[in-house]
Amino acid sequence: MRAAVGAFLVAVGCTIPCLAEEPGFRPPTAYPPGPLGEMVAKGEQIFTDTPGEAGLYARSALSCESCHLDRGRDSQSSPMWAAVPMYPQYLGRNRRVITLGQRIQDCFRYSMNGAAPDLGSNVLTALESYLFWLSRGAAIGAKTPSRGYPLLSDPELDPNPDRGRKVFVEKCALCHGHDGQGVKRAGRYVFPPLWGPLSYNWGAGMAKVENAGRFIKANMPFGLGGGLTDQDAWDVAAFIDSRPRPQDPRFTGDVAETMGKYHRDGDYYGRVVDGVLLGASP
Ligand code: HEC
Ligand code: HEC
Repeated sequence: MRAAVGAFLVAVGCTIPCLAEEPGFRPPTAYPPGPLGEMVAKGEQIFTDTPGEAGLYARSALSCESCHLDRGRDSQSSPMWAAVPMYPQYLGRNRRVITLGQRIQDCFRYSMNGAAPDLGSNVLTALESYLFWLSRGAAIGAKTPSRGYPLLSDPELDPNPDRGRKVFVEKCALCHGHDGQGVKRAGRYVFPPLWGPLSYNWGAGMAKVENAGRFIKANMPFGLGGGLTDQDAWDVAAFIDSRPRPQDPRFTGDVAETMGKYHRDGDYYGRVVDGVLLGASP
């Protein structure tokens, strides 16, 4: 993926600075020997090309790497090596203690808008092996500053989709397309869709404006992370997260009821923006 993106960036006249890793922690580079190494390599392929390698479980055109950059190693985009040592843990959203495997299942349900592969299935075992290997040497149970996406200060003005549309046109459309539907080359998305039927669904973490703002501020435009003002990051996040996207799998059959149960704040589900009732698409 980075090679394809790099070639595109050179074509449009920019270069990619090195993607960030945690000072002091280096995920390994050489695969372990034998069958475990094969499983790790398989997991890495699934992580970087999820539709191609685990298409049965993913209806979106995204890969894990679309949001966890540099194969899940980049310290600015919720790195996998900072997550793994923290599981099992209690998660408020699930209202129970979940394992790493169950956390990955949720990514399939929401971010990949798909179906969760069974615990113990090849896909899940490969991903768990890959994530575990990336985390070798990290201290179990020790929270690092790189966990999750970097924090973003509160916006001075309420996040606004109309202001965000201007940021999108100027700084994002070049890669993600004017319609936000991404760009495909040789059958693979080099630039992933930001909304619409092939993007993440309403239950995904990225559908919350704050999460998207944090990811965008730190990482977008790709290769130029940190370049937007905080306000622009909030506004453009509000813009992309107020476009239609696939239904929340927890849909009760009624948009208002689903909104009341799962979307009381932090996102645009159930609201009318530009004349469209969000959450009404299948
Ligand atoms: C659309 C963007 C997106 C995609 C695609 C995506 N994730 Fe995530 N992921 C997130 C966000 C956002 C969070 C933080 C979620 C939250 O706070 O609810 C997250 C959290 C996680 C976590 C927990 C991190 C922690 O520190 O506890 C793991 C593990 C994870 N993702 C793995 C994956 C895997 C594996 C895939 C591919 C099957 C994937 N993700 C695909 C956006 C994404
Ligand atoms: C130079 C090209 C480029 C530009 C400009 C760019 N992006 Fe991206 N964006 C990417 C690539 C490439 C990825 C996926 C990274 C990967 O797979 O390694 C991505 C991923 C994303 C994602 C997570 C995946 C998804 O589809 O939801 C979001 C959200 C996003 N970009 C938003 C933005 C926003 C907002 C802007 C403008 C401020 C922007 N991008 C500008 C190339 C770009």
